[in-house]
Amino acid sequence: MAKRILLTGGAGYIGSHTYLALVEAGYDVVIFDSFANARRDVPDRLAQVTGKPVTVIEGDVRSRQALDQVFGDRSFDAVVHFAALKAVGESVERPLDYFDVNLGGLTTLLKAMDAAGCRRLVFSSSACVYGIPDETPTPETAEYRAMNPYGQTKIVGEQVLTALTAANPDWAAGILRYFNPAGAHRSALIGEDPRDIPNNLMPYIARVALGELDRISVFGDDYDTPDGTGVRDYIHVEDLARGHVLSLDRLLDAGDSHVVNLGTGRGHSVLEMIEAYKRASNRDLPYTITDRRPGDVPVYVARADKAAQVLGFTTEKTLEDMCSSSWAWITSDAARRED
Ligand code: UD1
Repeated sequence: MAKRILLTGGAGYIGSHTYLALVEAGYDVVIFDSFANARRDVPDRLAQVTGKPVTVIEGDVRSRQALDQVFGDRSFDAVVHFAALKAVGESVERPLDYFDVNLGGLTTLLKAMDAAGCRRLVFSSSACVYGIPDETPTPETAEYRAMNPYGQTKIVGEQVLTALTAANPDWAAGILRYFNPAGAHRSALIGEDPRDIPNNLMPYIARVALGELDRISVFGDDYDTPDGTGVRDYIHVEDLARGHVLSLDRLLDAGDSHVVNLGTGRGHSVLEMIEAYKRASNRDLPYTITDRRPGDVPVYVARADKAAQVLGFTTEKTLEDMCSSSWAWITSDAARRED
């Protein structure tokens, strides 16, 4: 029988792509999402892609009662936990919300899982746990450095899981440190929602290509990088989603906890991203060099060999795939909104 997985935050950007990857891999998946930051039409679109009904439970991971009901109604083999807040600037302004949702949500979920005897968890972490790293490409052994409350919640979340798996051998956790997710599903039915003015580079570029925003601000060209602009390890969201399937396979087959980077091991500058998107969209992408963004890191690139060794994970998609799938998604999505 297919193993059953609970996907918290499964209607969000990475969650929805992971839903599709898990279903493709033969898992029976139930989405649990509060829709606080996800579009209501995502489940229908997922059903369109898979041709199967999607099971969605609306609820908040901070509610023990809601979670007990979920675990009481069905048995689950594991949980993939995405439900969290993720905007760095907002975390500085509203730290309590970040600790409440990202850490309160995590511990409430872990207690509900423990009570139900479900002790396998894949956790969404971030490269931001490295702060400004001493070494790039950055290995998983680099030390924790918190830069903001969002980063603090990811560090403490990892520590909670490490303590739990050390205390109880029945527990196993896969901690996945994402670098910069980009792109959209090949169906162009699922992607990053561009409704608000984006903080992150890729959705911002996409909106400029669409003509909805005037120009890109390039945050600084005086970093110690080949062209002076910030360098990041952009990873196609479908590759990232596949990393979750491999992490889950490992947890369920061998029960081995692991902490791995999910990146490509290659970096691209802001100007390279703009050029690549220009080619994919065939649009003019005006930009202005502005001051550095406070708190920004010059270079974030993953050491990717541990994910390859432990999970057999390597990325398959290129930068061109990230830009062309983003463009296909945002143009079709925008067209639908004008209906
Ligand atoms: C940001 C967060 C990171 C979080 C991740 C989630 C900060 C400082 N970091 O990562 O903690 O895990 O989002 O997705 O917010 N850039 C521009 N112009 C823009 C936007 C970005 O030049 O309008 C540059 C940035 O300076 C950076 C690169 O593009 O060099 C990527 O930025 P972004 O997409 O915001 O991601 P991160 O900063 O890496």
